[in-house]
Amino acid sequence: MATLQQILGTELPLIQAPMAGIQVSAMAIAVSNAGGLGSLPCAMLSPDVMRSELAAIRAGTDRPYNVNFFCHTPPVPSTEREATWRAALAPYYAEFGIDAASIPTGPGRNPFSAEVADLLAEFKPPVVSFHFGLPPAELLARVHGWGAKVLASATTVEEALWLEAHGADAVIAQGLEAGGHRGHFLSHDLTKQLGTFALLPQLVRAVKVPVIAAGGIADASGVAAAMALGAAGVQVGTAYMLTPEATTSAIHRAALKSEAARHTALTNLFTGRPARGIVNRVMRELGPIGAAAPEFPLATSGIAPLRAKAEAKGSGDFSPLWSGQNAAGCREVSSAEVTRALAQGFHASL
Ligand SMILES: Cc1cc2nc3c(=O)[nH]c(=O)nc-3n(C[C@H](O)[C@H](O)[C@H](O)COP(=O)(O)O)c2cc1C
Repeated sequence: MATLQQILGTELPLIQAPMAGIQVSAMAIAVSNAGGLGSLPCAMLSPDVMRSELAAIRAGTDRPYNVNFFCHTPPVPSTEREATWRAALAPYYAEFGIDAASIPTGPGRNPFSAEVADLLAEFKPPVVSFHFGLPPAELLARVHGWGAKVLASATTVEEALWLEAHGADAVIAQGLEAGGHRGHFLSHDLTKQLGTFALLPQLVRAVKVPVIAAGGIADASGVAAAMALGAAGVQVGTAYMLTPEATTSAIHRAALKSEAARHTALTNLFTGRPARGIVNRVMRELGPIGAAAPEFPLATSGIAPLRAKAEAKGSGDFSPLWSGQNAAGCREVSSAEVTRALAQGFHASL
């Protein structure tokens, strides 16, 4: 079987996790140039920004890189659910003097689409990764058509088998420790979600494609442990969040560096889907999992003005402070340096 490095064309079997909202091309370029696979998360980028970020990557590195997308089915907006959500947030709107009627509704994140495939075809990225399943077969065939390798997150054995059967070239075992959105897509039952070291060996046994470990890996010994459990490589996110290449806000950086980062939880309050972040005021008071939040990604617009008002006062009370369970590995060094430090963990296994 081909190694992950052979599949990705990289020196290291190390993927910098795509992290929508906290990094763009600068981190991807730095990691790819350091021998890993840098990633551009596209879930929150407009087509124009996506095009300029892809152009920046092409100008900044001649090494392989990854482009990442969400592939959820956009929900039919429900006025009733939106009203329930606004009612739950009403005391906060009053506290901050926000006129609820002035808040626009609308999605916060867009799924992979035919238009995006057209745009990507101009660049033919060598690796494309997906969260929340895979796009429809005809779109996936277009991605494979220009020779791209396809990766996708699995959070259960069933999801890994499904991804393998539907064309993924490797699966990412996303353990429960991971920061950001859970990638589950076959079942929304959170009790089925497993920790990295329970999930990883089960996926290695279940599928023939390479399995990449993600969630809670923040240093060389974590990398070595994942490789010892049969991982073909690792995907690391949180450990890159304090690097100068990250666009992580000052409020978010301060939270990651504080003792508050020891307490994370899955919450649906910021987008409508469970994602792991540092526990803050709105998570404590309305959740962390709240029944009033509308379906992903429609919860975003209702909470956005609260976040803006609170952040203007220097508070992260209403911000999604995404973090994995192991923020202790975050260091304020360059993304290249984080990559080199993690690479030490492969020496025993490569
Ligand atoms: C701030 C943040 C944003 C994330 N955004 C994305 C994303 O846009 N697409 C994606 O596939 N995964 C995303 N993830 C999840 C990562 O792919 C990965 O599963 C996770 O970072 C691994 O766990 P770790 O954070 O403990 O290293 C995000 C993670 C974080 C921390």
